[in-house]
Amino acid sequence: MSNKFYTTTPIYYPSGKYHIGTAYTEVVTDSIKKYNKLKGKDTYMLTGSDEHGQKIQEKAEQAGKTPKEYVDEIAKEAKELWAKMEIEYDDYIQTTEERHTKAVQKIFDRFMEQGDIYKGEYEGWYCVPCETYFTETQLVDGKCPDCGREVKLMKEESYFFNMKKYADRLLKYYEEHPDFIKPAYRKNEMINNFIKPGLEDLCVTRTSFDWGIKVLKDPKHVIYVWVDALTNYLTALGYLLEDDTLFKKYWPADLQVVGKDIARFHLIYWPIILMALDLPLPKTILVHNWIMMKDGKMSKSKGNVIYPETLIDRYGLDATKYFILKVVPVSQDGVFTPEEFVERYNCDLCNDLSNLLNRTVSMVNKYFGGIVPKYNGTPNDVDKEFEQFTLEQISKFEAKMDEYEISNALQEIWAIVSRTNKYIDETMPWQLAKDEEEKEKLESSMYHLIENLRKIAILIKPFMGHTSENILRQIGIQDENLKTWESLQSYDKIENAKVIEKGEPIFMRLNVEEEIEFLKEVMKAK
Ligand code: ME8
Ligand code: MG
Repeated sequence: MSNKFYTTTPIYYPSGKYHIGTAYTEVVTDSIKKYNKLKGKDTYMLTGSDEHGQKIQEKAEQAGKTPKEYVDEIAKEAKELWAKMEIEYDDYIQTTEERHTKAVQKIFDRFMEQGDIYKGEYEGWYCVPCETYFTETQLVDGKCPDCGREVKLMKEESYFFNMKKYADRLLKYYEEHPDFIKPAYRKNEMINNFIKPGLEDLCVTRTSFDWGIKVLKDPKHVIYVWVDALTNYLTALGYLLEDDTLFKKYWPADLQVVGKDIARFHLIYWPIILMALDLPLPKTILVHNWIMMKDGKMSKSKGNVIYPETLIDRYGLDATKYFILKVVPVSQDGVFTPEEFVERYNCDLCNDLSNLLNRTVSMVNKYFGGIVPKYNGTPNDVDKEFEQFTLEQISKFEAKMDEYEISNALQEIWAIVSRTNKYIDETMPWQLAKDEEEKEKLESSMYHLIENLRKIAILIKPFMGHTSENILRQIGIQDENLKTWESLQSYDKIENAKVIEKGEPIFMRLNVEEEIEFLKEVMKAK
């Protein structure tokens, strides 16, 4: 059995500063990668930028730069943001790199030779900012159905990909591979909205601009959007290049994460492109929903944008990631509000997690001079029930993660946090401490609190790396064997741990009014 895990994000349009919505795909993918790494898999994560097309050519002109200068600058900024967010991608591909353009030309050639691509003429209503043609009936009040801007009637010689030819194969594939699309309701959306009504052939070249990869045999055409963009997932691994070691090792992808706006391209066109190349399909494509604002989509013109840097600089990276991951239950949109952000910070992170650590560290100091007592070989009923609850939660967490439901998986961890807080009230260490005969119970109580904090620290590692390390440091866990995924199953392995002398709060309570005010102000800033 293969132990590798190859995962991808979409490649981003270089359209300026990325907001927390755009960062969402990246954070989700990175967390899943880290989770698989924690479980011992050989992981590889790809991200990058999607750098061709008319829109980019125009933006570069406006900025007085060459398109390549323009896209390189944005790729650099993107890499800086991902570094700040500690996204552990293994490769960043820019579609203007030669390793990509060369392979795309070969792929296109092959499609022409196979008869998958034919020459025709395209006419339609074109929205320049969205780089999309629409049919008359798709327009809304004569304007672009996606962005509401003006469209123009355009006609040009184009090559088309014969998608129809593969429609039945695709339907059959969906049926035989229930894990291919997550969440499952997206599959019916594709079938009912696009496949059943009849798949349209896809226009794959343009002659009206030239910032793109040229068709070798017909160089007045440049390859348009999807055949260029989607194939990055292959070319980044060296597909059709001299050195294709990575491709041999990692393809097919285990998981490809995409936002709902590009579901159709990844669930229909992408598998068809792979079929036409005789390549295996990715195991799963995860379609996530969006972070919305109260008044709809985030946009600069509306003045409702939140940038990850703002949150990170004020509240730290872990709190930012926690919120981003928590707010969108993959299969539904989530809404960012300042109130909700502050509430989650104060409740989940400060009251529940930070206080649990603090109370525990100070009790171990007070009752045992900081030395974590040894595990008592015969746990009493309360302790046994507590252990069992925690182990069950860990299984639930794993099940949710394996479905890529991160928000729900976090909830399973926080159920452990709550249960552990409750355990303090149940065992009442301050009472036990008064009675020398209850010493054993007191030891067991302290041991179990530390043990659960250790487990919580391991579980949050893929999402909140700093907090994880901080907890382990404060409770004195140094042994690497006690920081592994496998060690979650054991309950009796901590020995010679010493907590730090004075606990340090990992999250400090926020002033509700002040922070809501702050967030409202930064959202308004243009
Ligand atoms: O689509 N909430 O790039 P892109 C959550 N280049 N996710 C969001 C979001 C929000 N508010 N806003 C954007 C492209 N996203 C193409 C992809 S792949 C071969 C080509 C997500 O920069 C969006 O859904 O427009 C997508 O997954 C990612 O950001 C990049 O979007
Ligand atoms: Mg987009």
